[in-house]
Amino acid sequence: MLKRILFLPLLVAIICNAQSKKTKSYELASPEGKNKIQFQLVDNAPKYAVSHGKTEVISPSDMGFVLKNNEDLSSGFEIKKVENSTFDETWEQIWGEKKQIRNRYNQMVIELQQRSGNKRKLEIQFRAYDDGIAFRYVYPKQETKDSIFIMDEKTTFNLKEDGKAWWIPANRENRDEYLFKDAPVSTLDTVLTPLTIESKSGLALSFHEANLVDFASMTLVNTTGTQLKSDLVPWADGVKVRVKDSFTSSWRTLQIAEKPTDLITSYLILNLNEPNKLANPTYFKPYKYFGIWWGMHIGKFTFWESKKQGATTEHAKQYIDFTAKEGFHHLLIEGWNKGWTPKWYENHMHMFSFTKSADNFDLEKVVEYGKEKGVELIGYHETGSNLINYLKEIDEGFALYKKLGIHTVKIGHVGSKLNMKEWHFGQFGVNYFRYVLEKAAQYDLAVLYHESIKDTGERRTFPNMISREAARGQEYNAWSEGNPPNHLTIIPFTRLLSGPMDFTPGIFDVEVKQGYAGRRVHGTAAQQLALYITIYSPIQMMADLPENYEGKPALQFLKDVPTDWEDTKVINGEIGQYITTVRKDRNSADWYLGSITNEKARDLAIPLTFLDSNATYEAQIYADAEGTDETHNPSAIMISRKMVKATDILRLHLGGAGGTAVRFKKI
Ligand code: NOJ
Repeated sequence: MLKRILFLPLLVAIICNAQSKKTKSYELASPEGKNKIQFQLVDNAPKYAVSHGKTEVISPSDMGFVLKNNEDLSSGFEIKKVENSTFDETWEQIWGEKKQIRNRYNQMVIELQQRSGNKRKLEIQFRAYDDGIAFRYVYPKQETKDSIFIMDEKTTFNLKEDGKAWWIPANRENRDEYLFKDAPVSTLDTVLTPLTIESKSGLALSFHEANLVDFASMTLVNTTGTQLKSDLVPWADGVKVRVKDSFTSSWRTLQIAEKPTDLITSYLILNLNEPNKLANPTYFKPYKYFGIWWGMHIGKFTFWESKKQGATTEHAKQYIDFTAKEGFHHLLIEGWNKGWTPKWYENHMHMFSFTKSADNFDLEKVVEYGKEKGVELIGYHETGSNLINYLKEIDEGFALYKKLGIHTVKIGHVGSKLNMKEWHFGQFGVNYFRYVLEKAAQYDLAVLYHESIKDTGERRTFPNMISREAARGQEYNAWSEGNPPNHLTIIPFTRLLSGPMDFTPGIFDVEVKQGYAGRRVHGTAAQQLALYITIYSPIQMMADLPENYEGKPALQFLKDVPTDWEDTKVINGEIGQYITTVRKDRNSADWYLGSITNEKARDLAIPLTFLDSNATYEAQIYADAEGTDETHNPSAIMISRKMVKATDILRLHLGGAGGTAVRFKKI
């Protein structure tokens, strides 16, 4: 590990200004000089600007806050101190999409104090990386004791030029489960981050935040022209953030790349989180899992007690047998507990039990049976967003799992508001999700959130934060008009920049013959295989029904594909059109490739230069069978093998809404 911290004297460019109201301009460049931040007080108000090479990305933009009673914390400042430092470290992800991550940046901390009134102090910390920039606000303890109410954040991102933004709306009933649309920045309303933009001059930009703790999530709103402004998600009473004495905002981040595919291999969000606080939580190792799950979504089973109930002891044993027979070790069983009714999702403070099993389900017996067969259950808590009920039972619920030797819990939060009152993304929700994560760690539980807040890189600090939904997943294909084919080619460049997603891929019967009429997956089965590579998550579901896997040769790919990687590279891709990703297994010498396309069929030539140049590999190729696309024979997968070397070019044909998955087995 290379670690270097240097405190430099004020290494700043001093620009003399004719206007007396501007102070010195302080400049911070990234280690290789790719990105630069300029900071200056203009009329005693902090302003920052960002450039990439010769391109101005963010023109001078506002900073600061408005507090209660309209008290301004964005002007009237003087600079008390400026401190520069540099940092370079390579750290190891205990599981992840890449093992070794370099965290290299230059930092500038500006200490400000207001000249009059309450003489409040505010510190702004800037970091310049070669793959982007970040800044955050630290409001230190002041001389007088205080309760702080942030009513608004003044930060703006004054984009120099317009661009195509890939957006989903903020503060809506279905949280972040919307289809991404593209529109000029200048026409956006309030949108969620990550917000990815293809700028007119050709840069790929992504706005997000990192290390969000005890603060409100940042959404972005277009205020004028191409200017975006931070719009913090409020509490029900309109206050944005309430804290005692001091606060540290999340990092406001802007990843900057020359092409969209490079955004995917930027680890800036993780780098801005604190190192692992859990040492090595040995109770979690990446895995793949089956579930009594898809059956409920397609209407074969019910979540609630009925003749069609999915979670019965009998079904559980059958699924355990299947899991064990196919050589897997994890099984999710939803609807195992008391409290489910046909109207459970209508969010009227629904009461679930987190300790009592449904009449037809014997939790202890099922766990015992699983143990005999080497299959561990994944715990499941649907809160229905009734957190008053959940938090009363959470300790008992977690203790039960610990006693039974269960090491993962999926926690759902269906409902448009938490406790029918607060947005998931507000400070209340942010604190709730952090509280549960830390509590889970006390019970040796890894957490899989559904209907959660966005990921801001928590997994670095708490590696029991394994995955989350936080976007439209596979389930929409079961009971809605579904996800159009371009959805899967957009999310790697948007939602997935924030962290792992539990998309629940692996539907082989893409026409969902046992499901609701007219509902189906809008893609091919080969594309479903490729998703195990294009979507990163340390746990991946094999979402289909056992009967749809039974005897299918393509199941071999699901057996082989790992969920823990040494390295990741994105070979090609255009947002909303196609993407090809390759990943190297952390526990073998093998590489895996996933390539997917939107509704358009595509031929791609893949140089295999990522392979070890001294070796030969057997490429095991799972491709769309000839003539296959979304509507023609979509479940047909053609499996072929050929010997390849790093000097070869592999030619792929993807049918419309199709894909190819490849295992490169080192010989
Ligand atoms: C929505 C979740 O995304 C899904 O995975 C789960 O099955 C249902 N809620 C029920 O909790």
